[in-house]
Formats: sequence, C-alpha cells, structure tokens
Amino acid sequence: MSEESENVMDRNLTLEIVRVTEAAAIAASKLVGRGDKVMADQVAVDAMRDALNSLHIHGRVVIGEGERDKAPMLYIGEEVGTKKGPKIDIALDPLEGTDITAAGGANALAVIAMTDEGGFLNAPDVYMQKIAVGPDVNPNVLDLDAPIGDVLQKIAKEKGTTTEELMVCILDRPRHEELIRDVRKSGARINLIGDGDVSAIIATTDSDTGIDVYVGSGGAPEGVLAAAALQCIGGSMLGRLLFRDDDERGRAEHWGITDLNKVYTTDDLAKGDNVMFAATGVTDGTMLHGVRCYSGGVKTSSIVMRSKSGTVRHIETKHDLTCKN
Ligand code: FBP
Repeated sequence: MSEESENVMDRNLTLEIVRVTEAAAIAASKLVGRGDKVMADQVAVDAMRDALNSLHIHGRVVIGEGERDKAPMLYIGEEVGTKKGPKIDIALDPLEGTDITAAGGANALAVIAMTDEGGFLNAPDVYMQKIAVGPDVNPNVLDLDAPIGDVLQKIAKEKGTTTEELMVCILDRPRHEELIRDVRKSGARINLIGDGDVSAIIATTDSDTGIDVYVGSGGAPEGVLAAAALQCIGGSMLGRLLFRDDDERGRAEHWGITDLNKVYTTDDLAKGDNVMFAATGVTDGTMLHGVRCYSGGVKTSSIVMRSKSGTVRHIETKHDLTCKN
C-alpha cells in the first residue's frame, strides 16, 4: 500500500472506530444503575464485537477481556474485522468501569485503541504501578522508586506551582493507604476515585479537570489504553507490572515478558507513531457526557484522537434508534 493510501486509510479508520465505542457505550448505558456489572460488561462486549467485525481491518486483540479460556469474547489473540484490510493490533475495554455502571456513578467509558502490528505491550491482566502527568511536565521527572513527595515537588516545579496546589488522583483502595498518607504528608491535595483510571490519566492532560497527577496501581490493560491516549493527546506515564503470585508471573512470561521489574515508558506501552484512540462516555464524567436518552433515540459524546496528526476530535452524535437501516 502506498504511503498516501495508508494515510487515507488511517484517517478514515480513526473516524470509523468511534462507531465501535459508541455501540458499546449505548449497549452498556441500558444497564446503568441496575446493579448488574456482569451483564453491563457482556452487552458492551457483544456490541463492540459486532461493530468491530464490520470494519475493513485484519485486527488482532492484544489487550482484551482476558485470555481465551476466561473470556468468551474479545479475548487476547482473537481476530476481528472483515480481515480484508491492513493488519492492526487492538487494545480495548468495552466497559471501563463495570462497577461504576452498575452503581450509576461517574466516568464509565467504552474505550478502544489501535496501532500497527506489535505497537502495544502485550500486558497480562495483572496490576500495574502507574504515575502519569500532562504534556506540561517533563517526563524525566517521573519516577516510580523515588519518594512520592520528591516526585510531586519536581512536578510542581515543572508546572510553575507548589506541591500544595497540586491535585493528585488516586484509586480509593486499601492497598493505597501508605501512598495516600505520603501524598498528604507532601502537602498535595488528593482526589480519591472509586474506579476508572483510564479516564483519570487522560484527565491529567486537561487543566480544566483540575487533576495534575495520577498515581497508584490499577489494571495493566488499562495502563496500555491510557498510554495510547497520551500518545495522541500529549502527556506521559510510567508503569511497572505488579505480580501477586507465580500464576501472574507465568502469564507475563507467556506473553514474552522476561524482565518482570521493567519500568515501562509511554512509548514502551504504546509505540507513538501511529496510534488511534477513541472513547465514548457511558455515564457522565470529567471528560465526556454519558449516553443521554430522548424519545426514539440517544445522544453520545466521544473523543477520537490520532497520534500521527495530533488531531483530537470531540464528537456528539444523535442516534435515531427507530431507524431500521
Ligand atoms: P473494570 O471496568 O474492569 O471494573 O475496571 C475498573 C478499574 O477501576 C480500572 O479503571 C482500574 O485500572 C482497575 O479497575 C483497578 O482494579 P481494582 O478495582 O482491582 O483495584
């Protein structure tokens, strides 16, 4: 394929992938607040899969709903698309925030990222220690091993502010007790969230969200998705896989990871030159509105980005659900 036609293909695909997240978000929105996270995830997976299979790509899921025996659909290694187009690697989370959706909380998203074959880290479904900041901070100040107070001081200096002014977003989990204590000791402010660290990491790139730093451990697949978004919108992160037992270590080795203590940069998690990322809000959040119903249809809010051009599009779509075509 010539470079020009590849470019046209990339541009068209970027707009196509928003249909995929829209479909998953609309499906999941029907389960908002109904207390059934498994069903919410399932309908999002089904809708995303159907939409993906209509794309003219030879896609391979590298970050998905888990490994084949544990996930009936969109499992790691599954091939999707019409298989007539280019080879594309896909990272996806049809419903980022299953508990949020079940409880009707904020910041549930349908998310997908695509890149050339081999562009995403084959991250197993384990935890990842993460720190992320927006584009106004030099990535070199990030450090997963230094005391968090020191790192926050450097971040504040980069942003031309004080540690006391920083807002640090952390998942509210017992495992973060010490981290929360140390951040408080540094003087920084904290925004504790119940779920949804993809959205929290993207929030560091937009000063309107009020979030300056994301820190703590969350899902490794979510780390890859967040890195894909940062490659498009700017910002940087570091991530290190965390293993609780030999089974988790074995899964990493299965995917070719030999250095289990490696600190991954944004580039290691999602190679930067040709990444596409799309997310559609399921529930209202810092970045996107959730799915809103009106008589006969729904409205969705999405963000679609492409690293090659640096384009960031916000797309508001009205879907007529009475239309049979
Ligand atoms: P799910 O959509 O899979 O429920 O993930 C939500 C989430 O909050 C992620 O954003 C985050 O990375 C992960 O769960 C944290 O895991 P845990 O809930 O086990 O602390």
